[in-house]
Amino acid sequence: MEYLDFAIDVARAAGDVLKHYMDREKQVALKGRANLVTIADKESEALVIRRILERYPAHAILAEESGISGADAGDEGKWIIDPLDGTTNFAHQFPFFSVSIGFEKAGKVLCGAVYDPWRDEMFSGARGLGSFMNGQRLRVSNIDKLGSGLILTGFPYTMREKMKTAISQFEGFLFESQAVRRAGSAALDLGYVALGRADGFWEMDLHPWDTAAGLVILEEAGGRVTDFADNPFSIYGKQIVASNGRIHDEMVAVLTRLPS
Ligand code: IPD
Ligand code: CA
Ligand code: CA
Repeated sequence: MEYLDFAIDVARAAGDVLKHYMDREKQVALKGRANLVTIADKESEALVIRRILERYPAHAILAEESGISGADAGDEGKWIIDPLDGTTNFAHQFPFFSVSIGFEKAGKVLCGAVYDPWRDEMFSGARGLGSFMNGQRLRVSNIDKLGSGLILTGFPYTMREKMKTAISQFEGFLFESQAVRRAGSAALDLGYVALGRADGFWEMDLHPWDTAAGLVILEEAGGRVTDFADNPFSIYGKQIVASNGRIHDEMVAVLTRLPS
């Protein structure tokens, strides 16, 4: 698929930008109390946008650092970009971060690529065509009980305002699952569930650039994605529960019985 090939190509080039800055001066600035931005976020995003404008001038763009650009209407399609998912990790040289590029048309994410430049792992997927990691077909895990599952999560930068809810959810999953990990890149978290390295993922306050590419990758690997109340997931909503499908109902049950 043309758009997927393009997304893979550009995600790899943007990943090279991140690798370049990994052990150099990163010029870290604060967007909020705990919300960082570095020169690598900005350069990675500039590269992706430049490549889209050259190749698809009629497409719209939604990117984390610069917002909306490209063609106005977006009828021809919209690229949804997180140039560096896991900025806090990156700024501390903790090697878990990614580039995420999704392509949406008529309200549906058609394809996406999530690239981990540190491990050179390229997750990709397109509707109806399956999903892959470095050419290996992805399939979610067979774990069928939450109690046997490894569950991923993340905390929003607004954590301090939502502390009680975030902690009670975390506590709920610590009790009910085998283990919980908070690694720090939502896009990669979705890729890991698609690959079967983890069995589920939830988070309360995400953005379209965090989830667009990962959504199609996970669904094409046989996963299920909803909001906390088991309603169909929208990348423009905030809540996400993503799983191998088999433990989904149990995950939703944990979230719905907790006060929010
Ligand atoms: C963040 C990461 C993190 C998640 C945060 C996101 P950023 O994205 O995906 O895992 O917990 O909610 O904002 O800011 O590093 O692109
Ligand atoms: Ca992000
Ligand atoms: Ca980011």
